[in-house]
Amino acid sequence: MASKPWSAEGIPTQKGRVSVVTASTSGIGKETARVLAQKQSKVVLAVRNVSKGEKSQRKFEQKCLEKRVQRC
Ligand SMILES: NC(=O)c1ccc[n+]([C@@H]2O[C@H](COP(=O)([O-])OP(=O)(O)OC[C@H]3O[C@@H](n4cnc5c(N)ncnc54)[C@H](OP(=O)(O)O)[C@@H]3O)[C@@H](O)[C@H]2O)c1
Repeated sequence: MASKPWSAEGIPTQKGRVSVVTASTSGIGKETARVLAQKQSKVVLAVRNVSKGEKSQRKFEQKCLEKRVQRC
């Protein structure tokens, strides 16, 4: 029997959780942070480059995820 392909849509709600995502200024880390916020987790962007982290945070704000995403 063929299994269903994995998709982020299948991730259950993350409401009430706090996720700390390292290397979240680009690539896999950034996408992980976006999906977790979309799934209602509070997300902390743990980045080494603060200006890039702020840029990511602004992008999330434009997608109305601002209340759930902060950087450190
Ligand atoms: N993309 C894929 O399909 C894929 C597949 C398999 C494995 N991987 C592996 O998964 C990892 C991430 O891939 P990606 O495509 O998302 O890469 P990416 O877009 O280049 O992102 C790299 C992230 O890691 C951070 N980073 C790099 N060096 C660091 C260091 N020394 N200390 C702290 N943070 C550091 C970067 O921070 P700055 O913004 O500060 O530079 C950036 O946020 C890589 O190791 C890659 O080899 C990727």
